[in-house]
Amino acid sequence: MTRAFVPADVDEVRDALARHDYLADEGLATSIFLALRLQRPLLLEGEAGVGKTEVAKVLSRWTGGDLVRLQCYEGIDAGQAVYEWDYSRQLLHLRAVEASGSEVVEDELYSSRFLVKRPLLRALDYEGDVPPVLLVDEVDRADDEFEAFLLEILSDWSISVPELGVVHAEIPPIAILTSNRTRDVHDALKRRCLYHWISHPDFERELAILRVRAPEVPNALAREVAAAVESLRGIDLYKPPGVAETIDWAQALATLGTTHLDERAVENTLGTILKYREDQERARSHGLDELVREAVARGA
Ligand SMILES: Nc1ncnc2c1ncn2[C@@H]1O[C@H](COP(=O)(O)OP(=O)(O)OP(=O)(O)O)[C@@H](O)[C@H]1O
Ligand SMILES: [Mg+2]
Repeated sequence: MTRAFVPADVDEVRDALARHDYLADEGLATSIFLALRLQRPLLLEGEAGVGKTEVAKVLSRWTGGDLVRLQCYEGIDAGQAVYEWDYSRQLLHLRAVEASGSEVVEDELYSSRFLVKRPLLRALDYEGDVPPVLLVDEVDRADDEFEAFLLEILSDWSISVPELGVVHAEIPPIAILTSNRTRDVHDALKRRCLYHWISHPDFERELAILRVRAPEVPNALAREVAAAVESLRGIDLYKPPGVAETIDWAQALATLGTTHLDERAVENTLGTILKYREDQERARSHGLDELVREAVARGA
C-alpha cells in the first residue's frame, strides 16, 4: 500500500537533501517540507543552473520513489504527456486476428496492452510504497492550453482514458514544476502550487556545493572560484553563471593543474563559465586582472 512521504520537520528535509549532495537554504528546505506535508505541487523558478531540476532528482533518491520526468516544450500536447495508443501494434494485432480467420473485437484493440503510458499517466498510475516524484520541467516552454490541462491534473490527480476509465492517484505524486521564466506561468497554476524562487547561492554555500560536487578541486582554488563567480554575477551579464557553470569551471581549472587563479588561466577557461561572446567581452572590459586580484584576496 502506498503511503504519503511525510518528513517530521524542515531540518529533516535539509539534512536528507545534504546527504544526497544537495545543499538547500532555509527557504528552499521549508518550501519542500511544506510541499511534502501539504501534498501540494511545488513550482520552482530561478535563473539557469541554480539547481531547480536537481531538486526533483534528489527527492526521488531520498524518498526511493521513481522519478517521472515530463520535459515541456513548445507544442507539447496530451498525447506526449499522458498516453497514446500504439497504432502499429494495434495494426499488427488486427492483421494477425484477421489472418487466423477470427472476428476482431474492438475492445481488445483498446486494452491496456496497447496503451503507451506517458509521464503524467505513469505518475498517477503507479504501484509502490511511496509516491513517485513527478518532475514537470521547464513548464514555461509549454503553451497556454497545455498549462490549463496540467492545472486540471494537478487539481484532482485524475485522468480519464475514455476507453479504459478514470485513473486516480489516492496519494498524489510529489510534484515539482520548474520554470526559467521565459514567460510567466499563469496565476491559476501558481495558485495550485507552492512557490519558491531559487537565487544564486552566496559565497559560503557555493563553496560548500563545490566541496560536495567537485571534491577533487583543491580548497584554495575552490574558494577563489566561488569568489570570482560572485563578482562575475555582480557585473551586468546577459547570462550570469549558474552553479552548474561554477562546478564546470572549477573542474576545468583543476584538470589543467591550476592551484590558484591567474589571469591566463581565467582567459583560457572563460568558455566554461561564460557562454556568450558578449558576456566574455563584458568580463574582459571589466578587467580579468581585477577579477583575479579580488578573488585571490577573498579566497585567502
Ligand atoms: N544547492 C545545490 N547543491 C548541490 N548542487 C547543486 C545545487 N544547486 C545546483 N547544483 C548543481 O548544479 C547543477 C545544475 O543544476 P540544475 O540542472 O538543477 O539547474 P536548473 O536550475 O534546473 O538549470 P536550468 O534552468 O538550466 O535547467 C546540478 O547538477 C548540481 O550539480
Ligand atoms: Mg533544469
